[in-house]
Amino acid sequence: MKKLFIAVTFFSLYLSLAAQESLQIALTPPMGWNSWNCFRADINEDKIKAMADAMVSSGMKAAGYQYIVIDDGWMINQRDSAGHIIVNSKKFPNGIKPVADYVHSKGLKFGIYSSPGCYTCQKLMGSIGHEQMDANDYAAWGVDYLKYDWCNYPSIEKEAMKTPIADCRAAFELMARCLKNTGRAIVYSVNDECDKGTNEGALPWIKTVANMHRTGDDIKNNWERMLYCLDLTADLWQYAEPGYWNDPDMLEVGNESKESLWGKISPVTMSMTEYKTHFAMWCMVAAPLIAGNDLRSMEPEIRDILTNKQLIAIDQDPLGKQGRRIKQLGNLEVWVKELVGNRYAVALLNRGSNPADISVKWDEMGISGNKWVTDLWSDRNLGKFKKSYTGIKVKRHEARILLISPIGH
Ligand code: GAL
Repeated sequence: MKKLFIAVTFFSLYLSLAAQESLQIALTPPMGWNSWNCFRADINEDKIKAMADAMVSSGMKAAGYQYIVIDDGWMINQRDSAGHIIVNSKKFPNGIKPVADYVHSKGLKFGIYSSPGCYTCQKLMGSIGHEQMDANDYAAWGVDYLKYDWCNYPSIEKEAMKTPIADCRAAFELMARCLKNTGRAIVYSVNDECDKGTNEGALPWIKTVANMHRTGDDIKNNWERMLYCLDLTADLWQYAEPGYWNDPDMLEVGNESKESLWGKISPVTMSMTEYKTHFAMWCMVAAPLIAGNDLRSMEPEIRDILTNKQLIAIDQDPLGKQGRRIKQLGNLEVWVKELVGNRYAVALLNRGSNPADISVKWDEMGISGNKWVTDLWSDRNLGKFKKSYTGIKVKRHEARILLISPIGH
């Protein structure tokens, strides 16, 4: 009896420690780099190692970026006789572990990609039927982050490209259990395309399963497409909290690869102002900040956007609230994100083609009294304001970001 009591006590201690450990993952939105936006499946060991080097030398690591994530294309379309997934030996001749070890040796964390279906979106081997074996392999290689996509699932309806939500949920929950079984802390990022970006049915359960969830179809290096991703994320603000984040997709800031343009529709990349807006709005909605540009050849202006301390602090604020759109007048919008210490970040977003004045009133935000107002891009204190901050000139496609803090701060 006594032995049973001791065993039960130890087991419950183990369970509570395990639960605590899982709670420690992604307490703020994960920050890192992923290979898809700039390289697609054209990846290899040297490129990934070079990206880890560049993350350190560029100052991205110091700014808080942590994960180097290999997206689709690292495996072939087969398993070995024991059922293990086969790594593409042309791209990764030494396997994945030495790459993960290299990334870890730089003080960074390492992530990988798979898909729950028969095949990944690049028609390479998916995890179906081998979830635990794959999770064990990832843990043995030192994986700290899994991006789990949604393609080629058996019950997918080809016409509508939709899958029954129950199948989607079962597949994501299965991998969540397998990752947990490995005992390794692995950030779990899911791409729930089963509802084709409508988010119907996927929430709120998805936050109990994953640390982040893609809210729509793929981003492109294009203003309209970036706004599409932002808009799909906007209404999901109530779900975000430490441990779970809505994911409008990876960043396109400074991505010069041709694949990332929205080809026939608008073969134009975003301007520097649009990149700043893209980055700032991702920070406003507490999005994971996963860079997608070639870090080896970043222009200083791009590095300055990606490493902007004030903006990153908004994204990473420990309160873990997602910003909300509180006012929309045509193309002019006001967004507010609550921060620790009774502070608020405000975005004045001009989606239109002409410059415009945008104002924010304290009562629209549910606050009152004298406040300090700081412009975050210029890090300039604009002074004390009693009821509102009015008449700010906002350029075409610009987002001015203000920090509103109590007097005494
Ligand atoms: C898509 C996913 C992209 C990328 C790609 C790889 O479904 O949204 O981010 O992972 O698959 O094939």
